[in-house]
Amino acid sequence: MEVIILPTAEEASEVAARLVARQIREKPDSTLGLATGGTPCKLYQLLVRMHQAEGLDFSRVSTFNLDEYIGLDPSHPASYHRVMEVDFFSQVNIARERSHIPDGMAKDVRAHCASYERAIKDAGGIDLQVLGLGSDGHLGFNEPGSSLASHTRIKTLTERTRSDNERFFTDGHEVPHHVITMGLGNIMESRMCLLLAFGIGKAQAVAASVEGPVTASVPGSLLQFHPRAKVLLDAESASLLIRSDYYQWVYKNKPIWQTHL
Ligand code: PGA
Repeated sequence: MEVIILPTAEEASEVAARLVARQIREKPDSTLGLATGGTPCKLYQLLVRMHQAEGLDFSRVSTFNLDEYIGLDPSHPASYHRVMEVDFFSQVNIARERSHIPDGMAKDVRAHCASYERAIKDAGGIDLQVLGLGSDGHLGFNEPGSSLASHTRIKTLTERTRSDNERFFTDGHEVPHHVITMGLGNIMESRMCLLLAFGIGKAQAVAASVEGPVTASVPGSLLQFHPRAKVLLDAESASLLIRSDYYQWVYKNKPIWQTHL
């Protein structure tokens, strides 16, 4: 796990955007795993800007979003279909047939999850997985207690996550209880993970994920077992890390051959 702490969320998002851009330039037909929520918004804005200003080319990229609410129509403003369309897909040259999001309206959820898994495999697996972190330590919508080997399936949200996400709905009661989410097994199978977490509200989950024991009670901690996981933090989300000075020294003093940007 490489822990990168920058003063602000903007600066950390810039590092994330450069890493995603490098992945696409090195492998134009990359498969990206994408996240939603407040955390990656700036990352998507920066990628849109790179597309417009530098010609960053998404035409051969495939994407798989981590999750979607069950029962929300894709036109609902809080559905991840809508959010991704407005914030990202409509602003870059991505092929719609290669942008995948779990179907929260699927009649047969189990069959849909199986076909989502097949589509990930058919796309060659995920090269780079973007992740946010729930205040309860969840990855995707893999709530505490999720199987560490899980794949795409239905999950029930905790009340904490439903209340964290009320801000995206006009009526908080509307936040669905059920979701479809890629599993922790999917995340572990990706070739590289970029976990982003910003703000003081994430500090405990970050500390437990990065420096606590690996446990299903803190899904983010599973990334300690991932061979290529980078954790991008701002000063607030990093504030409870015991080895924060060390991580910062390591990042500032990387030998030139090891820098990745
Ligand atoms: P947030 O959610 O980015 O809206 O804080 C993170 C998550 O639930 O993964």
